[in-house]
Amino acid sequence: MSNHDQNFFNLFMVVIGALVGITAVLIVTARVVGGGTQLAWVQADPEYAAAVDKRIAPVGRVSIAGEEAVAEPAAVAGQAADAAPAAEAPAVAKALDGEQVYNAACVACHGSGVAGAPKFGDAGAWKARLAAGTDTLHKHAVEGFQGAGGFMPPKGGRTDLSDAEVKSAVDFMVSKSR
Ligand code: HEC
Repeated sequence: MSNHDQNFFNLFMVVIGALVGITAVLIVTARVVGGGTQLAWVQADPEYAAAVDKRIAPVGRVSIAGEEAVAEPAAVAGQAADAAPAAEAPAVAKALDGEQVYNAACVACHGSGVAGAPKFGDAGAWKARLAAGTDTLHKHAVEGFQGAGGFMPPKGGRTDLSDAEVKSAVDFMVSKSR
């Protein structure tokens, strides 16, 4: 190999090495950024949550004589025929209280302050919002709200919740964040 070829070869390997390094940095950066935003949104998506609930739903249920029957025949059939929607959302017998709603629907974003959400328990982040009044906070939680920091989806994306349940979750969150 001539000296000229050797020089070219060395330069070529340096360039390849640099490109490999840049690729690795991009992959790691994308994972870090994606984990904090996209992943949280996917997990907060009610359709995703419903799909997971369906996958981990018990195969069968036991009815004990003398107690209220729990297994509707349709639900059992629904396990076999995947098309049957019977096994999806179990009917909510009783309205959830604020803490339960918060843990089910709000903690994904507000628990850690994802994507600009005011963090649970962070009095500083809630002070200015509280000044707008509880009615405004209720309204923004139920109808959704585009603020300077980010987007609060209507009912946190859980449109199956009643207005009252969402409001009680706001009250719970606010009471712990003063
Ligand atoms: C997908 C993420 C996400 C979920 C889930 C979520 N929030 Fe939010 N929320 C936000 C973001 C982001 C903001 C900040 C918007 C801004 O002011 O920039 C916010 C703001 C709020 C505010 C303040 C509104 C205002 O006027 O300042 C309230 C109240 C609230 N959320 C309640 C709730 C409740 C109750 C739930 C559960 C039912 C919930 N959020 C679920 C992202 C979320």
